[in-house]
Amino acid sequence: MSTNNFWQEKITIGNLVVPRFMSAPLDGLTTSPFRQLIRMYSPNELLFTEMRHVSHVSHDKKGATVKFNPIEQPLAFQFSANSIDFLPEAVEKVLSNNFVMINLNSGCPAKTVIRSRAGSSLMADLPRLEMLIKNFITAINGRVPFTLKIRAGFKEKNALEVACMAEACGVDALIIHPRTQPEGFSARLDFDLVHRIKTTLKIPVIFSGNINSFQSSERTYERTGVDGFMIGRALWGTPWKIREITDATQGTTFVMSPLQAIETLIKHLDLNMQHFGSRGFVSLKKHIPLYVRTVPNATLWRDKLLRATTEEAMRTILSELCTHL
Ligand SMILES: Cc1cc2nc3c(=O)[nH]c(=O)nc-3n(C[C@H](O)[C@H](O)[C@H](O)COP(=O)(O)O)c2cc1C
Repeated sequence: MSTNNFWQEKITIGNLVVPRFMSAPLDGLTTSPFRQLIRMYSPNELLFTEMRHVSHVSHDKKGATVKFNPIEQPLAFQFSANSIDFLPEAVEKVLSNNFVMINLNSGCPAKTVIRSRAGSSLMADLPRLEMLIKNFITAINGRVPFTLKIRAGFKEKNALEVACMAEACGVDALIIHPRTQPEGFSARLDFDLVHRIKTTLKIPVIFSGNINSFQSSERTYERTGVDGFMIGRALWGTPWKIREITDATQGTTFVMSPLQAIETLIKHLDLNMQHFGSRGFVSLKKHIPLYVRTVPNATLWRDKLLRATTEEAMRTILSELCTHL
């Protein structure tokens, strides 16, 4: 058990003061219903939307890209961008919806994103990245903090250079996932690179990569000295993960029984149906294998649930599962 106050202290990012642990943006996963579930367990932590392109936000007449439930606050909005077209309009739309932070994605490794010269490819095009950063800062005009999420580099590791440029432009915090684009999400994390960045920058540095417990957070802190910790895939099927980690920093254990896990899955279904309408149960399927992994006969229940073709069928199987727990 650690008694170090470090874990209870908050971090200051521009005009925002938030706990050290926060959720990561996960495209296709950290939708509004999922964020609401995370919030049920973690009342104060900063949450992030999935990335959305500036032109998509600007052209979204119905406002679906900026829609959220107020309980998700404090909530940061993540943009992807490849040019400054529509950027001021998109920023205004986000700010008029009261997001507390704007983040620019300069780390996405997906081929479609790279082809459009956004995401991690921006790290190989510093003039473009710098122009985008400056335009975001001008458009935001100090109303909320502006942060940048990067990788170790695109093909070559140049995160230190990018970080220094970002800080000089006025970025309020840097989030780093220390792998290059070809390294995807599984190669060895470059802790030394993050340590060099942390000791060079004055702004807060937040680590993103394989944080799934208090122990992994402590190890990351020892090796890098970072200020904050982002939880990504560990939230998948475990929306209470940030709570579990923050409780561990205080020496207590947050326990979820298999029944409580399935009750959370049912709540997730409810929220998905409210948010996405009649097809809400379909988008839940990517979460199901992870929610059911701790129940006895997990494979059997997983397969049954994944085969459900209606909301009602899924609810019947879930009720049956609860009677077995
Ligand atoms: C399915 C998936 C979707 C992701 N979507 C985004 C995204 O929209 N924006 C972003 O900055 N990072 C995205 N990431 C990267 C994560 O935010 C995070 O940096 C990475 O997964 C490493 O952290 P983890 O080991 O805690 O998951 C995504 C990762 C995965 C696996």
